Amino acid sequence: MRITIYKSIRIIAMTFILGNSKILLAASPWGANYFPNIPLITQEGKKVHFFDDLIKDKIVAINFIYTHCAESCPLETAQLVSVQKILGRKLGKEIFFYSITIDPDNDTPVVLKSYKQKFKARWTFLTGKKSDIDLLRKKLGLYIDEIQDGSNNHNVSMIIGNQKTGRWMKRSPFENPHVLADQLGNWLTGGKSRPKLVSYKNAPELRNISRGEQIFRTRCASCHSLNGNELADALGPDLLGVTQKRDKQWLLDWLKAPGQMLKKKDPVAIALYEKYNKLAMPNLRLNKEEAMVLLEFIEEESKRLRKKSLASKK
Ligand code: HEC
Repeated sequence: MRITIYKSIRIIAMTFILGNSKILLAASPWGANYFPNIPLITQEGKKVHFFDDLIKDKIVAINFIYTHCAESCPLETAQLVSVQKILGRKLGKEIFFYSITIDPDNDTPVVLKSYKQKFKARWTFLTGKKSDIDLLRKKLGLYIDEIQDGSNNHNVSMIIGNQKTGRWMKRSPFENPHVLADQLGNWLTGGKSRPKLVSYKNAPELRNISRGEQIFRTRCASCHSLNGNELADALGPDLLGVTQKRDKQWLLDWLKAPGQMLKKKDPVAIALYEKYNKLAMPNLRLNKEEAMVLLEFIEEESKRLRKKSLASKK
């Protein structure tokens, strides 16, 4: 512990002594010397340094997760998978994502690798020394005590930025993935000061949406489609017609605590779990009212699409 404190003092002192980053500092409060160049280990077991290897001259998104978190982290990771799909080949070439564990005791490279595979994520997952990671979280302004207390208060836990231009922003991964992809792909590149509005054309149309639809979009759509058209890389099953396929009480129980259903060895839950890459659906802490409006929305949308497809067949 003491060593870490000395280390941080040294890093801060160096920032002052070296002080050669005046220009950078003018552009950003975070000059190059601001970032601790801590050693980290990738899911492949490769040793890297945070500043030199991960962020120097790069456009990046960095978030903090832990793999046994059954609530917000899986949703957050799934949201980033949606951004990954929108960014396509830019990810890993022009834009880099890093998910760093805050629980390095459990999250060894092997554990991170299997987590990455479950989500079909194409970015880098990292572990390291707890004290180093805590220092990094503090430096990035992402040290939130509540993350581990189960209160699901995990909102601002991502930062995106362009190290070269010094532009950094805290972002919620729960934002519309199109907006995040736009900020990463357009706004941060070239240091333009405003987001390019044109690319919002790819964002879903804005209209008055029901509460059920709103919850669906922000908390379900990154894993579930609702159009009968399940893509090969989908994380969870397409939900068209699911309110007809399953008993209402089963659905309510499932939404309330999917983990419990698996524990109780509910045969449908087990079969789905096996089919979907052993990726457990997160407990999204929905209350009964939220679960009801969600099911209503799924039912309405299924009816609407069925009518539409019947009409087009005529
Ligand atoms: C991180 C991904 C993820 C998120 C987010 C997610 N789910 Fe799931 N969901 C799954 C997976 C995976 C399964 C398959 C069962 C399993 O593996 O646990 C599933 C199964 C289901 C099922 C059962 C499907 C069937 O055929 O019976 C329903 C219903 C469902 N989810 C609804 C929702 C709703 C509603 C939301 C949003 C509130 C949501 N899910 C959010 C991953 C997710």
